[in-house]
Amino acid sequence: MTVIRLSTSLFLSLLLAACGGGGGGDSSSSIGSAEAEMPGGLSAQAELGRQIFQDRSLSGSGRMACATCHDPAFGHASPFATPVVFGGPNLDQSGLRNAPSLRYLRYNTAFQFAADGTPTGGFFWDGRANSLHEQAREPFLNPSEMANSDVAGVVAKLAAASYAPQFRAVFGDGIFASPDAAFDRMTFALERFQLEAPEFAPFSSKYDAFLAGRATLTAQEMNGLALFNRTDKGNCAGCHSSTRPANAPGPLFTDFTYDNLGVPRNAGIAANNDPAFNDLGLCGPTRTELAGRTDLCGAFKVPSLRNVALRKHFFHNGAFDSLQQVIRFYVRRDTDPQLWYGVDALGTVTPYDDLPPSMRANVNTTEVPYNRRPGEAPALTDSEIADVAAFLGTLTDGYAP
Ligand code: HEC
Ligand code: HEC
Repeated sequence: MTVIRLSTSLFLSLLLAACGGGGGGDSSSSIGSAEAEMPGGLSAQAELGRQIFQDRSLSGSGRMACATCHDPAFGHASPFATPVVFGGPNLDQSGLRNAPSLRYLRYNTAFQFAADGTPTGGFFWDGRANSLHEQAREPFLNPSEMANSDVAGVVAKLAAASYAPQFRAVFGDGIFASPDAAFDRMTFALERFQLEAPEFAPFSSKYDAFLAGRATLTAQEMNGLALFNRTDKGNCAGCHSSTRPANAPGPLFTDFTYDNLGVPRNAGIAANNDPAFNDLGLCGPTRTELAGRTDLCGAFKVPSLRNVALRKHFFHNGAFDSLQQVIRFYVRRDTDPQLWYGVDALGTVTPYDDLPPSMRANVNTTEVPYNRRPGEAPALTDSEIADVAAFLGTLTDGYAP
């Protein structure tokens, strides 16, 4: 949050300078007209961000917007049946990762190591962006996403959009003369939209209603909640925190840290046809500054479990397509590895097959629920798995009793 606030106030002072320091009317001592609320309750920048978020014309294909992969009807995550979305100029380029939900990210921070050394915060599965502002630059230029060839190309499309006059009114008449400045303001508007618009953090699930005393959970959901929290059973809350942090109106079901789960390789991702390719997460090529931290290879960010029941694919590589399977994987990963990983002709299983052999020791095998060895009983029975899945179903926003 620090970084986000800093960039906001920095921007506002620049903007005020550009406008001659004056806000509208007599409010020049406050943050000025730039923060004037639009009818929807959003700032003018966020309102522009809303339009940009939905604008397909800003892509190389002319058919892809942020909302294409981050669909509001799916918790602002991927609505597609494939584990990764196909983008690019002809919508035939396969990406490497599953499109995550954009909800509740306003409570995330820049990437940092906590006092005890735990990697925390950052945006993307590998935390490589330090703010939503920084994050928003990438999709426009990513060859398997919106696939523009350069910043100037994106800004030319922006200058031709129906809301370009509004963009000029907010960011200055001459804004399009500098593609870099216009691109920076455009990505800033996307950040404001995600930070301000209530739909990105509605806290309107059945579980929120339950916490407020306005709904009751079924016996199965209550049991699932208990198993989710119990440190000797699911222990899910160990990373997907179920307590309310000081800065949020409800629990977020993530602590924004990282972990290495040993998620199986997904043959459905084109890049995985190359046996030499591995997505290494925190120590991968997008995190060169962490290249020396081989202990972090294979770690990915803990996602919020809010709206998780709406997801069609789970984990950074979309390797699973049902919630029950995911929970079963957690508790049977090491008791029954043959269920998840490739078995060769001799019947030998290769656990953690999506990591190079030298990095397989990084997989977390000490924490409940994945601290079991072959032959031991899984931390949850099949009916308990169903209970946890039922509880996760109460985390979907938009509950109407
Ligand atoms: C082709 C599909 C696609 C499009 C279009 C797309 N995204 Fe994404 N988005 C993804 C994928 C895949 C990831 C995860 C990539 C990674 O972690 O390396 C992601 C990650 C993100 C994240 C990080 C979430 C987190 O948990 O840290 C944000 C924020 C985001 N996108 C916002 C946007 C915005 C804003 C746009 C439009 C400018 C956009 N996306 C366009 C697929 C897409
Ligand atoms: C030690 C930390 C930790 C614990 C404990 C943990 N998780 Fe996770 N969870 C993660 C991480 C990290 C990811 C992302 C991993 C990846 O994609 O490689 C994740 C991903 C998930 C996802 C996929 C979400 C998505 O959007 O793709 C689900 C569902 C999930 N966890 C449920 C659970 C449940 C249920 C439990 C308890 C049985 C649990 N987790 C326990 C760290 C944890």
